[in-house]
Amino acid sequence: MPYPLVKSVKVLLHVNTSYNFMSTYLITGVAGFIGSRTAEILLEEGHTVVGIDNMSGAPDLKMTQSRLSPLEQFPTFEFQFMDVESESGMQKLLAKCAPDAVLHLAGKAGVRSSMETPQAYMATNAMGTLNLLEAMRATGLKKIVFASTSSLYAGHPVPFDENLPVNSPISPYSASKKAAEMMCHAYHHLYQMDVSILRFFTVYGPKGRPDMAIYKFIKSIVEGTPINLFGDGSQSRDFTFVDDISRGIIAAVGNVGYEVFNLGAGRKPVSLLEVIHHIEMLTGKKAELVFHPFHEADMDVTWSNVAKSQRVLHWEAKYSLEEGLKRTIRWFEDSKSRFESQLSPIQNVHHNLFKRLSIERHAKS
Ligand SMILES: NC(=O)c1ccc[n+]([C@@H]2O[C@H](COP(=O)([O-])OP(=O)(O)OC[C@H]3O[C@@H](n4cnc5c(N)ncnc54)[C@H](O)[C@@H]3O)[C@@H](O)[C@H]2O)c1
Repeated sequence: MPYPLVKSVKVLLHVNTSYNFMSTYLITGVAGFIGSRTAEILLEEGHTVVGIDNMSGAPDLKMTQSRLSPLEQFPTFEFQFMDVESESGMQKLLAKCAPDAVLHLAGKAGVRSSMETPQAYMATNAMGTLNLLEAMRATGLKKIVFASTSSLYAGHPVPFDENLPVNSPISPYSASKKAAEMMCHAYHHLYQMDVSILRFFTVYGPKGRPDMAIYKFIKSIVEGTPINLFGDGSQSRDFTFVDDISRGIIAAVGNVGYEVFNLGAGRKPVSLLEVIHHIEMLTGKKAELVFHPFHEADMDVTWSNVAKSQRVLHWEAKYSLEEGLKRTIRWFEDSKSRFESQLSPIQNVHHNLFKRLSIERHAKS
């Protein structure tokens, strides 16, 4: 394991996160927003990363390229086009690369869209996780870090702490993540798997998902198009910068038994209108707002209590919202020229693969 083992005890004091030697990580969802940034940080630290993705969440070719290209510069990076729902494929891969830890970030994300294709969310988030756990059991792997969500806390008073009973999910997305958390627990109990469940709070940053609020707000304000706001804009979020999340994922690789950790900025939540105002100030441009009814799968407010993550993982968010927004806006404004660069041979393979998948997806729908 990358970190010295820490026995799981009733009161978990801390995980020793000081490590000196290089490890191999398997990252699922490596072409995604959070997966690609996490891989990049690990590769920069000298680790080996085997990344898998089925590209189903790829927003477009340019974004996928911009996420994968920096990883391909490292000889210690390997990409496999693979589906976590394929148990036999995952088993073969795990047996071959024998990672020290599996960072399971692949998933279908998005609360509202989970109402349109709930079966797909259950298949990827719940069954995909089960398949991965089975493949780990069959190959004797013990450490998994799982990407869960703050949306499980819907209905509870803020700030949310990890001990709250999260038994009333309000969307197929959060229900599918809850199912996956529970399956991880069963495998911890039965097969002594070491599980870090991480509940992320609204992640934003460069190369972020185009379906998420901050990306949409920046794009609309920079390009001068209207912003569609659901609700009156007073909904507040514990916005968390992607680099903080990636560092939290890496901090959670130490052995814990089975534990749930919040990864959120942990500061006072910020309303959507306040975020829009910040972006207006930083870009010097005015937003045009179009209001729509509040969506019933949305939450009014999210806010993480991060005391446990601070105490056990020695982790806390470092980026202020202002600094995170500055970096995200700078990336957005720069990315056009970066996207126009030539394709490398590996990028060409991804390009063609991506095109084929898009055609197949369209043919099915
Ligand atoms: N971004 C957030 O604010 C946030 C908040 C809470 C939880 N999460 C969770 O964190 C994880 C990463 O989120 P993200 O924002 O980077 O999303 P993302 O969509 O950018 O990344 C997920 C990646 O998983 C891949 N994927 C989906 N189904 C797959 C499958 N069956 N096999 C292999 N790969 C598959 C997608 O192609 C995509 O590249 C997700 O599990 C998400 O549910 C994200």
